[in-house]
Order: sequence, then C-alpha cells, then structure tokens
Amino acid sequence: MLIELKNVSFTYMPDTPLAQQAIKNVGFSVRTGEFVGLVGPTGSGKSTLIQHFNGLLEPLAGEVLIDGRRIGSEISALLVRQKIGVVFQFPENQLFEDTVFKDVAFGPCNLKCSDEEIEERVRSALKMVGLDYFEFKDRSPFTLSGGEMRRVAIAGVLAMNPSCLVLDEPTSGLDSIGKREILTHLERLNKEHGLTIILISHDMNEIARMVDRVVVLNEGKIEFDGSPKEVFLKRDDLLKMGLDVPEYASLLIKLNERGFDVPLDLFELNEVKDSIVCALERRSR
Ligand SMILES: Nc1ncnc2c1ncn2[C@@H]1O[C@H](COP(=O)(O)OP(=O)(O)OP(=O)(O)O)[C@@H](O)[C@H]1O
Ligand SMILES: [Mg+2]
Repeated sequence: MLIELKNVSFTYMPDTPLAQQAIKNVGFSVRTGEFVGLVGPTGSGKSTLIQHFNGLLEPLAGEVLIDGRRIGSEISALLVRQKIGVVFQFPENQLFEDTVFKDVAFGPCNLKCSDEEIEERVRSALKMVGLDYFEFKDRSPFTLSGGEMRRVAIAGVLAMNPSCLVLDEPTSGLDSIGKREILTHLERLNKEHGLTIILISHDMNEIARMVDRVVVLNEGKIEFDGSPKEVFLKRDDLLKMGLDVPEYASLLIKLNERGFDVPLDLFELNEVKDSIVCALERRSR
C-alpha cells in the first residue's frame, strides 16, 4: 500500500475546553495508481485527514504508513513530504518568488539537486500542467491568471517527483475553462504517468467523471468507500448528509425507479443520452 491509515484519530486542541475531534478511528488505504475522490460535507474532516498523509499532522491515536513504513519512526517526514505531494486550497497564495521558474524550482533546490536536474524538473513539471516553459519561466507569478497561477503551484509540487498528488479543492473559484484545464491535466497525470491522485472536491459531477473510487467522510468517519456507482447509489444517505449526487446519477436513478432499464454508472452526457434513447426504443417495441 502506498498510504495506509490504521485506526487514526485526531483532535484539535486536545485537553482544552475547545477540543474538537476531527478524525474518528479512520482506517483507509490507497494503492499506487489509484485516482481517489475524497468528499464530505463542510467540516467533515477532509482537509484534516489529508494532512496526515504527509506527516503535517500526527495522529493522536493510530498510525500512518507510507509504503508500509511508519511516518516518523521508519520513514522520515522529509522523505514522506517528497513522496506525497499535497496541494492545499488556494495554493497560488503560497507563490512568492519573482519568477515562475524560481517558484517551481523551490522544492528541487531544497533537495539540493544539480542545476541541470532543477531545470529538467521545472520543464517537465510545467509541461505536466500544460504551461509552455519558455513562455512562462521568466514571468512573475503575480501577472498570471488565477488558473495559470494554480497550475504553477501544482507544478511546484510535481517538481518534487512525488508518487502521489493530493489536492484540496483544486478547481474551487475557477471558471469552467480553468476547471477543465486542471482536470484534464490531472487525468493525464494519472492515466499516462501513473501518478496516484487523491482529489477533494465538493463538485460531484467532477468526482464522478474523474475518479475510480469515492471515499465519503462524515463527521470525521468514513461513511462509504467504493466505486462512483456504488457510492452514488446511496443517494438518500448522501442527501441527508448535505451532499449532492451527480446530476446524471440522479436522473438515471429516477428513471430506474420508474421502470426504465438504464445503467446507473454513466457520468458523461453522450452515454447517458444514448442509454435513455435505447431504453425508450426498447419500451416502444
Ligand atoms: N486549526 C484548527 N483548529 C481547531 N479546529 C479545527 C482546525 N481546523 C479544522 N478544525 C475543525 O475540525 C473539523 C474538520 O475540519 P476540516 O477543515 O478538516 O473539514 P473539511 O472537511 O476540510 O471542511 P471544508 O469542506 O469546509 O473544507 C471542523 O469541525 C473544524 O472546525
Ligand atoms: Mg477543507
């Protein structure tokens, strides 16, 4: 297992009147190459949970293993941070260098890579997020569009050559083109480069379209963990938690309840349309 959490619990400000248990006895693992969606209502513990993946937060109880090694005792937090790249919400706020090159190069510089290695990593990381090296390397990050800034921030994490990329709401606040650009590159990183990805999002359409597996967190506990089809069939439970289901899933479930024989695991408009046409044709025969 690339990431394995065993009975992890975490409390903010323990032993104080303000103590807040954010993670409750969570067991969870991620295999190399998976594309996992992490969803849950606001305050359910998603951002807290992912900070355990790279040792930024230490569990109050339980343990976190990376490649089978326990963080702290068997694998150093430094190495873990290189393996598991976490892109926090609004990562563009953390850009601070005067050129895109320097910002993306920050991690590899800290790893004491050679100049050639640094340049190679910056080129390759910018390419992975679809930004042309020569066009962008000398620009100030602050002259970029919001979507471009965010892609530079993601490139900065990719330049560490992580085995896993964890992203906390990477598309929030972007327009639909900006969103699509980020998602297309994430899809490619997973399918073509074999990068393991864990994506937090509130957009269920996005989750359904992108991921192989959905993990639902509610009040600090894992409520469901399965394929998008399995999880989104729990529509009533999800709605009760305050979560949406993908629009197409909702439509197909309703048609199914009314006796139309349509599959429930389609999340692309064309497939949904074709399946409805087929079901109507079968009915009219
Ligand atoms: N630094 C902190 N100090 C104290 N409590 C915190 C802190 N950060 C988060 N919490 C609390 O822990 C719980 C989980 O918060 P977390 O940010 O992990 O949720 P989330 O699922 O990421 O929510 P959102 O979807 O709104 O980003 C919440 O009750 C929150 O108030
Ligand atoms: Mg959060």
